[in-house]
Amino acid sequence: MATITFLLLLGFIVILTTSLHAQIPVHFVPISWVQNAILKGAVCLDGTPAAYYYEQGQGDGANNWLVFLQGGGWCVNQTDCFNRATYGGSIGSTKNIRLSIEFEGALSNNQTNNPDFYNWNRVYVPYCDGSSFTGDVEAPDSVTNVTYRGARIFRATMDDLLSRGMNGAQNALLTGVSAGGLASMIHCDRFRGLLPWFARVKCLPIAGYFVHEYGSAGMLPPQCTSIMTPSLCLFPQYLLQYVTTPVFIAMSSFDQVQIKWNLFKEDEVCLVSQNCTHDRKQAIQELRSDVLAALPKAPPLSRGIWMTSCIAHEMPYYSTLTIIGNKTFADVFIDWYFGFNYLQVIDTQTEPRNCSEYGIVPKPL
Ligand SMILES: *[C@@H]1O[C@H](CO)[C@@H](O)[C@H](O)[C@H]1NC(C)=O
Ligand SMILES: *[C@@H]1O[C@H](CO)[C@@H](O)[C@H](O)[C@H]1NC(C)=O
Ligand SMILES: *[C@@H]1O[C@H](CO)[C@@H](O)[C@H](O)[C@H]1NC(C)=O
Repeated sequence: MATITFLLLLGFIVILTTSLHAQIPVHFVPISWVQNAILKGAVCLDGTPAAYYYEQGQGDGANNWLVFLQGGGWCVNQTDCFNRATYGGSIGSTKNIRLSIEFEGALSNNQTNNPDFYNWNRVYVPYCDGSSFTGDVEAPDSVTNVTYRGARIFRATMDDLLSRGMNGAQNALLTGVSAGGLASMIHCDRFRGLLPWFARVKCLPIAGYFVHEYGSAGMLPPQCTSIMTPSLCLFPQYLLQYVTTPVFIAMSSFDQVQIKWNLFKEDEVCLVSQNCTHDRKQAIQELRSDVLAALPKAPPLSRGIWMTSCIAHEMPYYSTLTIIGNKTFADVFIDWYFGFNYLQVIDTQTEPRNCSEYGIVPKPL
């Protein structure tokens, strides 16, 4: 009798545990350390080795690759980069990096939540170099001992992925948000060059099309740096003229970071609380016009566009906002990626709007 009660109890616990797990399907992907990172100089600002998170593709996605570059602003001078290396946590170091992370959105392995990429090889590349993966300086800073090696992190990470099968990719996408979005533009042709000629390779910078920017010039296309001041080649509107790989720009014309940098901090604050004065509203509208005017004029197949009027910075891939017809960002993007439909979509609503109900939430800056 006691045994039966025990078994019943055990069975009940098993059912309870299973159903609890079923309610919270959390999916963690373990860290991969870049092979020979120190030897290759693929190190963060503080000299710690680079890492990434990788999940293998399955079925008809086994030869498809989605590489996501994390964002996190930039460090802009010696002091700023030293602070990021020393006190910045994971954006300057892998010292305390998480040993596994949850893959969500376009990185999720759940077909229901991520119909476009769930069975692709999916890679999340953490950002710890402070320069959108562009630094390529041999010697550490003589004063601060900070290392500027973002480009080597990019290259060494790609080496690892190529040896994991990316050298046989049929479809590939380099994407990222914010500083990672800018990086996905800067490295777009380099990424294309690493992959087979027959592969479909495109890039998707999200919230990275800033009309003013900083950074290091070493990794920029020489066709651009030979003609203009290198720092200008970090402005996407100049840089993109020299990128030959197809690029899809996804952004808000009222991007909070863009407004904060190109106008004033107060403008970003009043934008989010939607209480700007007439003058500041006008300044924000002028910046919006500049952003729209700076968009590439190239054919839609080589330059796709999804430009919202949301008060936001980041933009989830599966946000439910529709700008034309009943098409979301994911719908328009995937049509463009596979060449079914060549669209450049720009929201004609000229007033900044809160898109929280569509999953595009203003970011606290
Ligand atoms: C996939 O996501 C759906 C919707 O969120 C959920 O109901 C389902 O349990 C998930 N499947 C797995 C295997 O986690
Ligand atoms: C400088 O950083 C390197 C790692 O990049 C470390 O090995 C070395 O001890 C550091 N030197 C000083 C003086 O902090
Ligand atoms: C470095 O940049 C930070 C952040 O923008 C700024 O606060 C600081 O004044 C700058 N320092 C120097 C020496 O330029």
